[in-house]
Amino acid sequence: MQLTKEEQAMLDGELGPATQKAMHILTAIGDIYGAQRMARISRVHVASGTPVSTGVGGVKFIEWMADNGGRARVFATVNPSAIDDRYWRELGVPQEYHDLQMRLTGAYERLNIVTAYSCTPYLIGNVPAKGELLSSAESSAICMYNGFFGARTNRQGNPSTLSSAITGRVPVYGLLLEENRFGSFVVKVEARCETAHDFATLGYYTGAVSGNRVPVLAGDFAAHATVDNCKMMAAGMNSSAAVAHFHIAGLTPEAPSVAAALGGKAPEETFVFDEAARRETEAKLCSASGERLDMVVLGCPHVSLLQVQEIVSLLGGRRIAPGVVFQILTSDAIKAVCDRQGYTESLEGAGAMLLSRTCPTCYPLGEAISGARDIRSLATDSSKMAHYIAADSGRMPVYYGSTEECVEAAVRGNWR
Ligand code: F3S
Repeated sequence: MQLTKEEQAMLDGELGPATQKAMHILTAIGDIYGAQRMARISRVHVASGTPVSTGVGGVKFIEWMADNGGRARVFATVNPSAIDDRYWRELGVPQEYHDLQMRLTGAYERLNIVTAYSCTPYLIGNVPAKGELLSSAESSAICMYNGFFGARTNRQGNPSTLSSAITGRVPVYGLLLEENRFGSFVVKVEARCETAHDFATLGYYTGAVSGNRVPVLAGDFAAHATVDNCKMMAAGMNSSAAVAHFHIAGLTPEAPSVAAALGGKAPEETFVFDEAARRETEAKLCSASGERLDMVVLGCPHVSLLQVQEIVSLLGGRRIAPGVVFQILTSDAIKAVCDRQGYTESLEGAGAMLLSRTCPTCYPLGEAISGARDIRSLATDSSKMAHYIAADSGRMPVYYGSTEECVEAAVRGNWR
């Protein structure tokens, strides 16, 4: 790989051990993928905010980078953490995870990485321009950066995003190159697809037929492809598969038409997402039967202010049924506005928890559940949460329904 003088100086250790290590990591990745050069970038979203995913070894590595002169040269945010500052004890998060999280937060702060701890960094200011190169982790955010914003990132993990933050560089390969960004097959969307939940289902279906290919979605549903709906779709695509990029014909920046999104080539395949496919996908994600409902989770990926407004409005001043844990997940930034607007008070007055900085896959859910409450069934509107909760919690039964159905069930205290 051809390096500039400054990049070579980084690799030679002239800018300190952490920068040297970071450049080693990036050049090794670049060599593996056949990159010819590095590109300068101005933003990064770092992978691991939680020791649940880094493990103790990962925390030690990030501390080493911080203690050896590593500092983010560019704007960098980080994915959710293991704790919400107010609720972690109530959620049953063990003290050891809290203490590890504090070490990790300290290291990120020394690295000058913004510990906003959210999986929707594009809702809190980490927003690229069309065509901008960046380095992002978090599967749904990667997919949103590529498909919704038309920026360019490969799927990155913790060592690579951290290294890009410290060096301000990314090796150029894969989705950073024009020729790799075209779609290869089409999904015709004929089913109703209007709400965030509908998009979550569409995403899960699309992932299942995509593998790791780039899909081109087409249909009138594009009129409903808001940032909130697309983030639910992107999360779904990255639960049933690993889809780093999508096109919605007529809407997303690189897809003025199906033909343009396919780069002028014929599609390899065409799938139809009709009502039958929608119902079948929903049924696949709804693993619970019976009525018992112990927990409701909304906010996977982290909710926007608009979604909080919708949940407050759906609750309409009613209380959550006794015994039901109702979690709404968001970032510190959104929660700060919710505090000022009175939404937090309204939700907590109803018996809900507005959690910031975390989610049930980022805190040790299994231990938290057995430690805090007898949770044996969960409802969510998110296909990603439905998929991972069922898997991560030892296959806990999940009810999968619309945001409205989840709120109604939480108020009733059962899933009918
Ligand atoms: Fe975010 Fe957790 Fe879902 S990190 S995308 S809320 S699984």
